Amino acid sequence: MSSGGDNKATAQIIEEVIRDRRTIHNFTTETPPFEQIEKAIELASWAPNHRHTEPWRFHHLGPETISAVVDLNSRLVTEKKGASAGSAKRERWSTIPGWLAVTSALSRNNAELQKEDYAACCCAIQNLSLYLWSVGVGVKWTTGAVTRHLDFYRLLNVDPAVRQTVGLLWYGYAANVAQQKRQPVGEILTRLP
Ligand SMILES: Cc1cc2nc3c(=O)[nH]c(=O)nc-3n(C[C@H](O)[C@H](O)[C@H](O)COP(=O)(O)O)c2cc1C
Repeated sequence: MSSGGDNKATAQIIEEVIRDRRTIHNFTTETPPFEQIEKAIELASWAPNHRHTEPWRFHHLGPETISAVVDLNSRLVTEKKGASAGSAKRERWSTIPGWLAVTSALSRNNAELQKEDYAACCCAIQNLSLYLWSVGVGVKWTTGAVTRHLDFYRLLNVDPAVRQTVGLLWYGYAANVAQQKRQPVGEILTRLP
């Protein structure tokens, strides 16, 4: 379909993927093939992007980096909530099969461009999530304190003066899928004369 034309079968599939995609909190131990992630990233980059800045960068974490992020997060949680909370976090985070960070270009002297770039990265993450969902891979987008920590930027090899974290994405096969609700469309739509 090249023109965005009327194709009922495609529309139905798109509707289902959008409606059924859920944030996945609990994963099985299996890691999806990297080729699927690579394809999802390529599709992510087809997100709308004012001024064609392509502000997104995707940072795929390997075992060493994952382990360092788990350590960092455990340290931060320990500092804030104590040792047993820190070790519980370490245990939980150590079970996450796939890790991908997304960063956006920062334009410190152009607030409008920075906002547009951040928005484009959010659209890219949704593209990625929807594609992965359609091939059976679940994603959780996280923006916890660790993603803003200088040591996190160091681990990504990203200069926080130049780029900002948009999300740390966990991915894998869902161990379970939570239910969600949304407000009826009448609650969120205003029709103006
Ligand atoms: C920008 C952004 C940040 C998020 N950060 C977190 C997070 O830190 N922890 C978390 O559990 N979920 C996070 N989520 C996922 C939301 O909690 C989730 O999208 C919401 O509960 C609705 O569920 P659904 O995605 O299944 O529709 C984030 C989502 C977005 C868009």
